[in-house]
Amino acid sequence: MTKVLFVVSECAPFIKTGGLADVAGALPLALSAFDCDVRVLLPGYPAVIAQLSKTKVVKTYEDLFGGPAKLRRWKYAGLNLFIIDAPHLYDRDGGIYGDVTGQDWADNPERFAALSYVGASIASDGAGDWTPDILHGHDWQAGLTPEYLQSAGTDVPFVFTVHNIAFHGNTSADRMNALHLDATRFDADHFEFWGQISALKSALMGADKITTVSRTYAEELLTPEFGIGMDGVLRHRKADLSGIVNGIDEAAWNPATDPNIKPYKTAAGKAANKQALQKTFGLATSDGPLCVLVSRLTEQKGIDLLLEALPELLRHRGQLALLGSGEPKLEVALLEAAASHENIAVKIGYDEALSHQMIAGGDAILVPSRFEPCGLTQLYGLRYGTLPLVALTGGLADTVINASPAALASKVATGIQFFPVNGQALTNAFTRLCDFYSQPAVWKAMQRNAMKQAVGWDASAAEYSAIYSSLMKAPS
Ligand code: ADP
Ligand code: GLC
Repeated sequence: MTKVLFVVSECAPFIKTGGLADVAGALPLALSAFDCDVRVLLPGYPAVIAQLSKTKVVKTYEDLFGGPAKLRRWKYAGLNLFIIDAPHLYDRDGGIYGDVTGQDWADNPERFAALSYVGASIASDGAGDWTPDILHGHDWQAGLTPEYLQSAGTDVPFVFTVHNIAFHGNTSADRMNALHLDATRFDADHFEFWGQISALKSALMGADKITTVSRTYAEELLTPEFGIGMDGVLRHRKADLSGIVNGIDEAAWNPATDPNIKPYKTAAGKAANKQALQKTFGLATSDGPLCVLVSRLTEQKGIDLLLEALPELLRHRGQLALLGSGEPKLEVALLEAAASHENIAVKIGYDEALSHQMIAGGDAILVPSRFEPCGLTQLYGLRYGTLPLVALTGGLADTVINASPAALASKVATGIQFFPVNGQALTNAFTRLCDFYSQPAVWKAMQRNAMKQAVGWDASAAEYSAIYSSLMKAPS
């Protein structure tokens, strides 16, 4: 049995802002089939603390970056967790990364240094009767782990997964003492990045193995366009970098059993869900495709490209139902678009149940991202027979089979990809989408292909477990 500790800032179903939480909640269960005992170390945000029941304190810290803290062991929803109960760091109103206005918390460097520090302390001294063989950190919030492993004098291997390279977790060098970092390691080989402390750089330099969430993104990361400043570091670590595509939680996302929808086993069952969704969004019936989009609203997600290309969808009497929240200017632009056209409906907010109803009721799911390390909603779409229309980038390139003439002829097409990632190419993609939609036989064949595609975790969990095995010391 390989004991693995995930060090991660969110985990579904307890606390989620994006796909990172889905991965942290589903991969541990998938890995248990590969003889791995995975536990998840998570900050004790108020929403998490409120859900706790029957915990056991397995460790205490007199002064964890400015105050006392307890480490609580908790078993719930099939997951094994360690929760950092540190009110001075996590007990506050607002979001998990920032306040209600969206401004990052000023002490984020300390809040997530604490996460990494506790991870390293569990590796060096154990927690209760459990000590991990491997630490597996996710994104910059776990990035300083190698520094704290070093200061604790432990050589437990560290695997690091990049979910999104755009977030570096940089902070000013004058935080060195506050973060308990070793100033003699503030250099290009460790955590220094252009004169700043960089949690992400620390992880990329210090990890024994680096993974990211699709093969294409692993290649893209080596280029200046996608590496966002870290491409040089990643080229340096290329031998230890690999791409492992995300899967989905097949129990939570199963159209045959989903409690949020009118369950169905074949795509024919989508019609009732489409009708319900149109009603929810106040859309009339129409003979064009109903496109859905569920997303954080940021520059990454290509929402501006969508706004540019929408007239083409509307011209074919297509419809858009969108759920998301994020940058105020994108929210405003979307609400304005909705106000200006009867076939566009937008809900600003975060709503798990509605997201399921949208994936079930939509004809097509849109993911027009500028970059997308993996992306999960296109995978949900495949499983629900909701054809993905996606940008040709990252995990979107790896998980959707474009409806080219050859793919259609050999009956493997599962969606539509567009490239280059701009408004014109997306406009052309809408033309193709509406054309396919007007040919029911072609559309139904693609739905069947999509619903057959493997989108679970099995193959990828096997790849993670192989990485863990490669790092385990042979017994002496
Ligand atoms: P990212 O992690 O970059 O946000 P992913 O596609 O990997 O993108 O994951 C996003 C996850 O968050 C999916 O599970 C998606 O359904 C969910 N999600 C995003 N926005 C919302 C929302 N407004 N309401 C409900 N779920 C959302
Ligand atoms: C990130 C990426 C997304 C990926 C998710 C989970 O948030 O933006 O593409 O699916 O992490 O790995």
